[in-house]
Amino acid sequence: MIDLRSDTVTRPTAAMRRAMAEAEVGDDVYGEDPLVNALEERVAAMFGHEAALFVPSGTMGNQIGMRLVCQPGQEVLGDAEAHVVTYEMGAAAAVFGLSTRTVVSEGGVLSADQLISQVRPFGNWHLTPTAAVAVENTHNRAGGLVQPLEELEKLFAWSRDAGVSVHLDGARIWNAAVASGVPLDTYGRLADTASVCLSKGLGAPVGSVLVASADRIAEGRLWRKRLGGGMRQVGVLAAAGLHALDHHVERLADDHARARRLAERLGVDPATVHTNMVVLDGVAAPMLAAAAKGEGVLVSEVSATRVRLLTHLDVDDAAVDRAVEVLAPLL
Ligand SMILES: Cc1ncc(COP(=O)(O)O)c(C=O)c1O
Repeated sequence: MIDLRSDTVTRPTAAMRRAMAEAEVGDDVYGEDPLVNALEERVAAMFGHEAALFVPSGTMGNQIGMRLVCQPGQEVLGDAEAHVVTYEMGAAAAVFGLSTRTVVSEGGVLSADQLISQVRPFGNWHLTPTAAVAVENTHNRAGGLVQPLEELEKLFAWSRDAGVSVHLDGARIWNAAVASGVPLDTYGRLADTASVCLSKGLGAPVGSVLVASADRIAEGRLWRKRLGGGMRQVGVLAAAGLHALDHHVERLADDHARARRLAERLGVDPATVHTNMVVLDGVAAPMLAAAAKGEGVLVSEVSATRVRLLTHLDVDDAAVDRAVEVLAPLL
């Protein structure tokens, strides 16, 4: 099977498995797992933050991150297609009592002015105050879009005076950095809390890292424990994450090139390919997905008329060729 449904489907490489097998471990709930500590220090430094917290998933990273900058009864404002409001099972409300409000943007592209115009102030007896704004980079449902740096800068500069925090869902921030050339710490410094994933394009089997100030991460550690996310000899997973940071970041450029090639050969405008995602619009998605599956190619049905293809660590040039052979006649 050639699995283009998501970049989460990768399996650890032989070298990553070796690193996991050889990991020195301790009890991380006691703060004694050396590789988790090393991973947290490394990722915090990469993003220009004081501290970091290893969490089991991007969802937990996002939800704790938002809780750290928003109190129950206050709101987080974000894009209508954001992962935090689309795919996280209403966790902000169900778990933390946070209200979320969304704006419909132009194709998922962050517009600082649009978000700022929707922010509601504190101290008004009628209005739910906006404590935080959530940004997604790259934007999953916008086809792996890289957010414009000027808009991120404008939003963050405004937020300092406005007393509003910024949370970054950086599940694929690595793809954004590789595609745009913007350093990770530049993206990191434009957010108060940021969740970054090791288990998407980077190819680790499990794990995300939340970065923030030391005080916020200390509080985040309590929330992680309350949610049952305190893990023990989890250095076996941190070893995979560290290995991914050493070996799988720069190679994301290969995934991006393969996505562009896939698009070109399927007649999709390559200008719509920003990173590792190709979106096929106006297709009969269920039929296309079923027929492709019959030929050994798995694709993701985003809607009845939209299919998504992702390139990743387990998709090489031969897999792209084969996927084109199968998909082109179906289109
Ligand atoms: C943009 C984005 N944020 C967050 C997540 C959540 O990550 P997880 O599946 O590890 O909870 C995903 C998952 O695909 C994602 O695409």
